[in-house]
Amino acid sequence: MTVTGAYRRAVLAVADSAAVRGFVTRAGWRLGVGRFVAGETLDGALPKLQALVGSGKRIVLDVLGEFVGDGAAARQAAGRIGSTMEAVAAAGLEPYFSAKPTQLGLGVDPELAFELAAGLATLAGSAGGHLCLDMESSGYVDATLGLFERLHAVSGGRVSTVLQSYLYRTAEDLGRLLALDPVPGLRIVKGAYNEPREVAYQNKADVDKAYRELVYRALDGGGKVNVATHDERLLSEVGAFARGGGLGPERYEFQLLFGVKPLLQDRLVADGHGVRVYVPFGEDWYGYFSRRLAERPANLAFVLRGLAG
Ligand code: FDA
Repeated sequence: MTVTGAYRRAVLAVADSAAVRGFVTRAGWRLGVGRFVAGETLDGALPKLQALVGSGKRIVLDVLGEFVGDGAAARQAAGRIGSTMEAVAAAGLEPYFSAKPTQLGLGVDPELAFELAAGLATLAGSAGGHLCLDMESSGYVDATLGLFERLHAVSGGRVSTVLQSYLYRTAEDLGRLLALDPVPGLRIVKGAYNEPREVAYQNKADVDKAYRELVYRALDGGGKVNVATHDERLLSEVGAFARGGGLGPERYEFQLLFGVKPLLQDRLVADGHGVRVYVPFGEDWYGYFSRRLAERPANLAFVLRGLAG
């Protein structure tokens, strides 16, 4: 395992502790949550969304939440996402949303998750928007892909999902998804969860190599490929490939996270690539925030400096 991998695992393991969660949640914004999370409400996030759109980027919104405990909580979460979609469309912004399948009850009742996700896909689609099913920890991949395939069959291209290059299984999953008709839109990421060596590469070089292979295979497969990374080498390589092959915005876009490498985001726009920024907001920010800290030691140092000051 590399040092980077060990760091990520350690932070995610510590973040799982109830005591740490309690402390961090209480300290909240003082710890720098606002660097990665656009606000606790849509009103708080709106100026940031407008600024992103004003600077030539598109947006994907995440109403934060995951792992609901029962069907009522899943319905409540879907209701929140639905009313936010309407408010976003009313504000003149594209209602392109991402949701965690466990937020819609996948871990409680897959049939309910399908009903709620299908409702949100229809709502987003009716306003010219989109729904992406984020990919969570490995135990949910089968259920998420199953949910996605059902939605894809009825959604007319309004739904996409995510594949993670750190999982050994992903090459096979990609083959299965590329065989669907029409070929679905796919976001390719490296993967953000704490996964054991039985299911996932532990070395960054292996994850990066798999990532590159998946992106080119997906581009070759004919669907829309959402290349979601901040890895500058990969982005410039894929950008040059797309340009050389005359691929337009219907075939690929770059997706990056709110607050991560904003100058790179601007540069990609200036270079003429389609860029979409993933913007999370809401009160349930703890899981999302801890995954961002786990991605880079400097992020944790930033939080610790905030605590000391
Ligand atoms: P890598 O970790 O190699 O980093 C490349 C460069 O970016 C390095 O210089 C690094 O320091 C910098 N960087 C990376 N993360 C940073 C951070 N948090 N802060 C500051 N600098 C950082 N995962 C998942 O499992 N399921 C999902 O559905 C999604 N969805 C998703 C959407 C979008 C739009 C993005 C960009 C990412 C995701 N992810 C995700 C997260 C993804 O799996 C991965 O954890 C992060 O993107 C970090 O990996 P990179 O690809 O950036 O590469």
